[in-house]
Amino acid sequence: EELSFSEAILRASGSISRFPLIPVRGVPLMCSIANNWDSVWSFCPDPADLLIATYPKAGTTWTQEIVDLLLHNGDAEACKRAPTPVRSPFLEIFSPPPIPSGLDYLKNMDPPRIIKTHLPFQLVPTGFWENKCKVIYVSRNAKDNLVSYFHFDCMNMTQPEPGPWEGYISKFMHGELSWGSWYDHVKGYWAEREKRNILYLFYEDMKENPRREVERIMRYLDLSVSDEVISRIVERIMRYLDLSVSDEVISRIVELTSFKNMKENPMTNYSCVPPPVFDQSISPFMRKGEVGDWRNHFTPEQSKMFDEDYEKQMKGVNIPFRDLI
Ligand code: A3P
Repeated sequence: EELSFSEAILRASGSISRFPLIPVRGVPLMCSIANNWDSVWSFCPDPADLLIATYPKAGTTWTQEIVDLLLHNGDAEACKRAPTPVRSPFLEIFSPPPIPSGLDYLKNMDPPRIIKTHLPFQLVPTGFWENKCKVIYVSRNAKDNLVSYFHFDCMNMTQPEPGPWEGYISKFMHGELSWGSWYDHVKGYWAEREKRNILYLFYEDMKENPRREVERIMRYLDLSVSDEVISRIVERIMRYLDLSVSDEVISRIVELTSFKNMKENPMTNYSCVPPPVFDQSISPFMRKGEVGDWRNHFTPEQSKMFDEDYEKQMKGVNIPFRDLI
């Protein structure tokens, strides 16, 4: 399946280009998403589906791998059955044929599906909330997130040109990048986390103590299985109940999802997306995986300007981001 995914991309590569973004309800999105917006918005998940929501580059792939391993009781081989975007489809992505869309993949999978999205809270199809799906949100401190996104936009030929670094900071601050404002994104999910039972995680916490965060995810997945869901799809839910993962399995999952292992794993390092689309000679997908790399990019003046604007945009909101100063 890895071959067929990569093959499809190679065949479509003639139509891949850095198209401009188009706003959907004020949020700039890839034009392929904007043009197919109705089908995304009307997507209805199964109550057993799980959504992993992030602003781009906040630790999506890492979390997708942890959850897939949890659902497979730490079985590394099972999680090498296909590359990340095939195992855990990207809800809103549309690529030129013959590359299947995220919705195409989802159509052919049985719940519980691990669905990835970068949509801000207000653009998540309402079926996720109506069906009380589990949602894991991962956030990352603004400066590291920005740095990671900059390098990604350099190598991802489907995203608009990043342009020079200085101007990129300004686009980030003004919410002009693909998927819109980082500030609105992290605040939108934060405001809803209790009401919607969203597990709100931080990249920096995962780096600091991956075992603690893997356990947190495990408890969340287990605890949020309601009686209602169990009676509706008993068989599928048995897999959730199997989530009483042993200590040994947790240790294995932490090891398998270390930066080094995921960088070397062809199923997680996005080598499945070949150079016409992801040019990893410009910047590898598994780039550094560190906290605080922003210090190697921001000048003191840029950092000061960023901090002043940050204060304003985050005023009155107390999301405990770390390593920003
Ligand atoms: P850097 O560019 O800072 O290295 P996403 O999956 O949301 O696109 O995020 C990609 C970022 O997460 C990249 O950050 C990547 O290196 C980092 N990442 C991926 N897997 C990781 C892991 N297992 N541990 C730490 N960081 C990881």
